[in-house]
Amino acid sequence: MGKDVIVACDFSSAEDTFAFLDRFTDVKPFVKIGMELYYSEGPSIVKEIKKRGHKIFLDLKLHDIPNTVKKSMAVLSRLDVDMTNLHAAGTVDMMKAAVEGLTREDGTRPILIAVTQLTSTSEERMQNELLINASINDTIVKYAQNAKEAGLDGVVCSPLEAGMVKDACGCEFITVTPGVRFADGDIGDQVRVTTPEKAKQIGSDYIVVGRPITAAADPVEAYKRCVEEFVG
Ligand code: C5P
Repeated sequence: MGKDVIVACDFSSAEDTFAFLDRFTDVKPFVKIGMELYYSEGPSIVKEIKKRGHKIFLDLKLHDIPNTVKKSMAVLSRLDVDMTNLHAAGTVDMMKAAVEGLTREDGTRPILIAVTQLTSTSEERMQNELLINASINDTIVKYAQNAKEAGLDGVVCSPLEAGMVKDACGCEFITVTPGVRFADGDIGDQVRVTTPEKAKQIGSDYIVVGRPITAAADPVEAYKRCVEEFVG
């Protein structure tokens, strides 16, 4: 499994996104497109960024009945994204349907990963509001195991959870981890953060990095520093 840095393109318009991507001339980072950009610009933003030679992680976190998810995944597969995701809370059946929908006629498909528990969900709220009477770590491990059983490739998780997911699901099971900051950088609104170097040691396969790159004075240099620390 090749390790890579995924740049979170959390911009609200195609114009801002392209102004950012235009700065990268000799390297073409793997980029993450989230709901805001996708909902404002539509599928054309995916096609346009693909055409420029970037790999794309389309972060739309699908969660619906299996049939709807299957059909929607077939659409995303035709868009030729490289990675996409869904909520493991949709159950094993929904995840199996997603894999079916995503698989192309030739048997290939984008990497499919699951969100276990959002990092914004605290254990207290999960127990009191969602009535899940387990620890948040047990829930994360169980959801990761469900994702593996359904045939998914991995999960999105905090770098600090990557080790426990690997222990439960095997080292081939991919961990994609946001919440990354340079040792000398601002943490912003993230709480449980780690550096690219530490994420590498813990066993993350992909780190998702937004503001430390997008808001840097020199984004290309910040990206290269990230790659150097994480991939080596
Ligand atoms: O700017 P920053 O590096 O904090 O961006 C992290 C990216 O990863 C954002 O797009 C954010 O929505 C996403 N993310 C996250 N934590 C999660 C899941 C996704 O920060 N648990």
